[in-house]
Amino acid sequence: MTAAAPRIVCISGGTSGIGAGLVAAFIEAGDRVVTFGRDPEKVAALAQRWGQALDCGNLRLLVGDVTHAHFRKRLFSEIRDADGRLDVLVNNAGVILSQGDLEETVDAWRTTLEVNLIAPFALTQGFLGLLEQSAAPVVINMSSACAQHPFETCTSTSYSASKAGLEMLTQRLAMALGARGIRVNAVAPGVVESPMWGGAIDLIDSTVKRRHRLRQEAVEPSDVARAVLFLASDDARRITGACLNVDAGYALG
Ligand SMILES: NC(=O)c1ccc[n+]([C@@H]2O[C@H](COP(=O)([O-])OP(=O)(O)OC[C@H]3O[C@@H](n4cnc5c(N)ncnc54)[C@H](OP(=O)(O)O)[C@@H]3O)[C@@H](O)[C@H]2O)c1
Repeated sequence: MTAAAPRIVCISGGTSGIGAGLVAAFIEAGDRVVTFGRDPEKVAALAQRWGQALDCGNLRLLVGDVTHAHFRKRLFSEIRDADGRLDVLVNNAGVILSQGDLEETVDAWRTTLEVNLIAPFALTQGFLGLLEQSAAPVVINMSSACAQHPFETCTSTSYSASKAGLEMLTQRLAMALGARGIRVNAVAPGVVESPMWGGAIDLIDSTVKRRHRLRQEAVEPSDVARAVLFLASDDARRITGACLNVDAGYALG
């Protein structure tokens, strides 16, 4: 029996936190990963960690900003020229730029929406032709428990609103792309200790204590990666338009 061909997987923001966990999980599953972030130092650190995967072509790294149309164009060409198809797109890159309800600036709102909501649409739209070349194309959007209720522990309004929009985008795209065989789902993590929290350990601890009903334990990047791998697999072949919470009960309220 011949081994299944490796999937071609594009993960936005795979240089840190949850995204770095996704990169590890897909490479370890035998897939070929393309990822990127804005910070060249984070990209270099990932290259150092995965030197062997880089040498074999199982990992390709780019430096770029997902909100820049010229970078997205470069990304589409890179994958089109090297692989001719895309099997899995994970829209993982995300930001929280400020806290508060009425204190956030309009500029912070705009950037948050650009990264967390518009870029997932733009990447999906730009990759459509390559996704259609796949036998089992999947898009997975990284939402958040903060999308699902105005929890007072989710302290950035623009962030919560952007993720709520991402969950609706997931359903709209699932509807629009179903006839083309492209599944679109979301994963909504609870608290995952990552650089996004800016080292606010007390805030992480208190949020986990209040919201993580299941054992009051934080979620690990590997927990999120397992859910993403499942949604990307043939076991999930009839699942589209869904959001899988990996939140230790955060969204229960
Ligand atoms: N951590 C949590 O508790 C939690 C909970 C629920 C959902 N999430 C979601 O999970 C995803 C990953 O978060 P994380 O906690 O792993 O955060 P993180 O450690 O800050 O990682 C974010 C990643 O996105 C990249 N990125 C940010 N803006 C970008 C841009 N404009 N262009 C390209 N890349 C960009 C970052 O690299 P550069 O900074 O170098 O660009 C980094 O690789 C996000 O969508 C987040 O909203 C996180």
